[in-house]
Amino acid sequence: MCGIVGYVGPRPSQDILLAGLARLEYRGYDSAGVAVIDGNGDLGMRKKAGKLSMLRDSLADAPLSDGTTGIGHTRWATHGGPTDVNAHPHLADDDKLAVIHNGIIENFSALREELLADGVAFRSETDTEVAAALLGREYAKTSNLQDAFQNVVNRLEGAFTLLAMHEDHPGLVVGARRNSPLVIGLGEGENFLGSDVAAFVEHTRKALAIGQDQIVSITPDAVTVTDFDGNSVEAEPFDVSWDAAAAEKGGWSSFMAKEVAEQPEAVANTILGRVHDGQVVIPELDGLDELFIGINRVIITACGTASYAALVGKYAIEQWARVATDVELAHEFRYRDPVIGDDTLVISISQSGETMDTLMAVKYARERGARTLSICNTQGATIPRESDAVVYTHAGPEVAVASTKAFSAQITALLLLGLHMGRVRQTLTDDTAVEELATLPDKIASVLEKEHDHVSQLAGWMADTRSVLFLGRHVGYPIALEGALKLKEISYIHAEGFAAGELKHGPIALIEPGQPVFVLVPSPRHSALIHSKVVSNIQEIRARGARVIVIAEEGDAAVLPFADEVIHIPLAGAMFEPVLAVVPLQIFAMALATAKGLDVDQPRNLAKSVTVE
Ligand code: F6R
Repeated sequence: MCGIVGYVGPRPSQDILLAGLARLEYRGYDSAGVAVIDGNGDLGMRKKAGKLSMLRDSLADAPLSDGTTGIGHTRWATHGGPTDVNAHPHLADDDKLAVIHNGIIENFSALREELLADGVAFRSETDTEVAAALLGREYAKTSNLQDAFQNVVNRLEGAFTLLAMHEDHPGLVVGARRNSPLVIGLGEGENFLGSDVAAFVEHTRKALAIGQDQIVSITPDAVTVTDFDGNSVEAEPFDVSWDAAAAEKGGWSSFMAKEVAEQPEAVANTILGRVHDGQVVIPELDGLDELFIGINRVIITACGTASYAALVGKYAIEQWARVATDVELAHEFRYRDPVIGDDTLVISISQSGETMDTLMAVKYARERGARTLSICNTQGATIPRESDAVVYTHAGPEVAVASTKAFSAQITALLLLGLHMGRVRQTLTDDTAVEELATLPDKIASVLEKEHDHVSQLAGWMADTRSVLFLGRHVGYPIALEGALKLKEISYIHAEGFAAGELKHGPIALIEPGQPVFVLVPSPRHSALIHSKVVSNIQEIRARGARVIVIAEEGDAAVLPFADEVIHIPLAGAMFEPVLAVVPLQIFAMALATAKGLDVDQPRNLAKSVTVE
């Protein structure tokens, strides 16, 4: 939530900041703003409520100076509504100092009272302006921006990434982070700061990851990192593995359309280099077998779509690694008193690697002595740094707010992990699974090719639908949940996913004539019993007038008499079906939202990276 970019160098910064914000806009699009300092030491600032295009239009009419030091922000509103005044940057010290912020300053009320008592007048309702005013007051004491900044961050509680610059110091941007993301981009004679590498990947792929509670200062030629006490620390260098083109829309109608289509590649890249001599061996876990030996429980923790990937992972890990596995929503996990210890492996899943709920769950698990492993799509992110081990998904940058390719890559990573753990724990008996992994990308491509137009047409016909239900059993259940979430978040219509067996315990009351219901039918080759149960569920809802849209494997004739529509997926092993079955549901949600004229990439009220609890 909230995207942050900073620049110092020889080039005019305004357009660099706007380009960075465009790549970070998925993090929040309630308002946007930039501030630049020019060669005469004058600070100019512009901020606008609404999407970045509003700011762009305003700057096109009246650009700021050609100042080469700048900061920019795109906001997901927390304290204070999405107005021009509440937009960032916030100014202090007679408008000579500009501050931007991502996160929530929990002690802002007390600080605000203190500053009000000191005669400070506030213009906005934000916690950020409190930090700016505090910095202004500290700076007035010494005129040393770095010292003042260090004093201020030590007084803040909560989660924050803060960037600041001052007219008296052109060529210097200072930043700090606590539980919110910040990375450094290293250029030639110029340097960058960003919430993630997308902010600067167009200019450099050399980056430094900054740890928790660290402060950074960038000038055109130098980067210094310290802890909150001012002690020098080494930042961890890494190379960004994708280029700017990967984060562009290309010729696609939306990022979501592009990302749905990229799934074969995302899954192939996640598998790449992790299968050797017919066995899954994840190089990042080399030498870490002890993570998996002697455990008696696995907890997978995540939020939203990632938690549905986790549910698929539960089935795979239990089957292949023979260890009891539970899935816990990260925001519920640490607010009870879970029974965990050094015999528990806590696996966290996060595309962004920054989701605050998940980060806090990982920290909590570590404090309680559990072993921790994260599955993440973003290099340099916080959650992997807080974990004992990490398995990266290689889905490439995911820009659309609704997660698609990251989800299939997360399931793939969980399948790999389950097979890896099964090998290490010597519990793996399924010798076809590893071979089957390699066929997944082509099978996804086949679903995209054969079903895209069919499903889009179906969605077009259903554009006025007010409610859609999704049913699944076994690994189809998480996919039913994911299908419903995709529809809710981008089409704004009521959608619910159920375990098919749960239907008769209540939800069947929702079925009335014409109610559309998607049913995920597992292959009869895996379990004739589960298959027949799902076919019975279809008959039950059909008898009550439901309009049944079935997703079933090619050649499954048993479902034909009871289905109004059949969407086919290729034959695949039980654990692999979810990655195929979710694709038509993603296409359906996208096409229905498009038919309703909605913005599929930036749905209302949402942001991609949820860095507040
Ligand atoms: C839905 C979606 C969210 C995320 C959730 C976790 O399409 O994208 O539900 O899955 O906010 O995000 P990450 O994976 O970044 O931790």
